[in-house]
Amino acid sequence: VEEDKLELRAPIITFMGHVDHGKTSLLDAIRKTHVVTGEAGGITQHIGAYSVFHDGKPITFIDTPGHAAFSGMRARGANVTDIVILVVAADDGIMPQTREALNHAKAADVTIMVAINKCDLPAANIMRVKSQLQDIGLAPVDWGGDTECMEVSAKSGQGIESLLETMALQAEVLELKADPKAPARATVIESSMVEGKGPVATVIVRQGTLKVGQPFICGPHWGKSKALINDRGAPIKEVRPGMPVELVGFSDMPHVGDEVVVMDSERSVKKLSEERLEETRQKKLAVTRRST
Ligand code: GTP
Ligand code: NA
Ligand code: MG
Repeated sequence: VEEDKLELRAPIITFMGHVDHGKTSLLDAIRKTHVVTGEAGGITQHIGAYSVFHDGKPITFIDTPGHAAFSGMRARGANVTDIVILVVAADDGIMPQTREALNHAKAADVTIMVAINKCDLPAANIMRVKSQLQDIGLAPVDWGGDTECMEVSAKSGQGIESLLETMALQAEVLELKADPKAPARATVIESSMVEGKGPVATVIVRQGTLKVGQPFICGPHWGKSKALINDRGAPIKEVRPGMPVELVGFSDMPHVGDEVVVMDSERSVKKLSEERLEETRQKKLAVTRRST
């Protein structure tokens, strides 16, 4: 990679943690404090990832479900991310999915911060949570450790601004860069079938600039970007590194974690797709032969 082609990109921050500890509520709280005036009615989240501007710079957020069945998505969430915010409810403390999320974040070797949420509750016990954090190797900065632990409440808004400030500082230290002119690559973070649109996916652009009309390969499937819809539901023409978007135009349903890779022609993506599908058929055939 040529250094001089690299430009700063938005940091990708993922909220992880135990079920119901407040990941989605924290994302909503951040978004609410950063909605442009006059847009208050339009804050409903359109896709599972969005960006806000802090001091004029974009920060991208991803939500992950806490339910045990979504372990795979948490593992992949940790992999696309630069910073993981481990959300721990102040009344509940560290729970099984908190530990599991921490293990994914450690395996992905990303910066870990902690948001101790629900500090507004009378049952909140911040000392207990900090002591539990210390026990799992996340000693808080104010206890002499090196993990940023922010005390927040998604409900009252307490600590939300300083949580954002601390994230922005951590991101600056990481000096995250990408080449916006390289062939575009994006990671699928969620996918679904939408009436009238076919398979659609929320993707985060990792490199290059994803544009409308580009042919791409994604796992064994090919596609052509028919439409790009931003996190506010508005159609856009292109997406830069670090930014999330809803991508329409897949030939088949993509899997979470798959990579969308833009290629120069429709012919080449269709050919590559054919080869990959054939490979899969051959593998399945081999397995069937072995088992009979
Ligand atoms: P999953 O995605 O299901 O794992 O849950 P989550 O972590 O996204 O939690 P969610 O934001 O759905 O919040 C769970 C419940 O906790 C909801 O009833 C919220 O209203 C409540 N809640 C979230 N944050 C706070 C908070 O700061 N204070 C209080 N009192 N309640 C909160
Ligand atoms: Na929930
Ligand atoms: Mg949630």
